[in-house]
Amino acid sequence: MNMQRRSFLTYLGVGWAASCFPLVLSACDTGAKKNEYDPKVAANTSTDSKPATSGAGNEIAAATGFTVVGTVVDLDKAGSVGNKQVLVVRDPTNKSNVLAVNPTCTHKGCAVKWKATENHFECPCHDSDFAPDGKVLKSPATKPLATYTAKIEGDKVMVKLA
Ligand code: FES
Repeated sequence: MNMQRRSFLTYLGVGWAASCFPLVLSACDTGAKKNEYDPKVAANTSTDSKPATSGAGNEIAAATGFTVVGTVVDLDKAGSVGNKQVLVVRDPTNKSNVLAVNPTCTHKGCAVKWKATENHFECPCHDSDFAPDGKVLKSPATKPLATYTAKIEGDKVMVKLA
């Protein structure tokens, strides 16, 4: 009887020690291994959200408050350059100038598109038309598109967004 009790306690003690062994090992672990690849760390190594800059042109643009939104080649090829925030076209009355508008329609917020053959911006949602300088040509929109200062410098199309 006494022997059975001792065997049971010994068995219980060995079992407890064995079950704690992984915990002891993990407590001694110092964390990430130096050469181990961690995708979370890799994803955070590039925290710079600014667009990549290459060359002195972009540095000058940033210093003057202008942002490069495209190239003259792309402007002349596609008829417009820009993004969701700004759309730049050649001024139909003076092709050496460029005009920039916010392409968000003032009616319900659709993105307007440049119709080069008709020299105006057109909204695909409810057919409002806007002049190259943003003025309303055709309702239902009643307010003009927001405009920005734009220029061509070298081979770059630049816009002052602020
Ligand atoms: S959203 Fe442009 S005309 Fe309605």
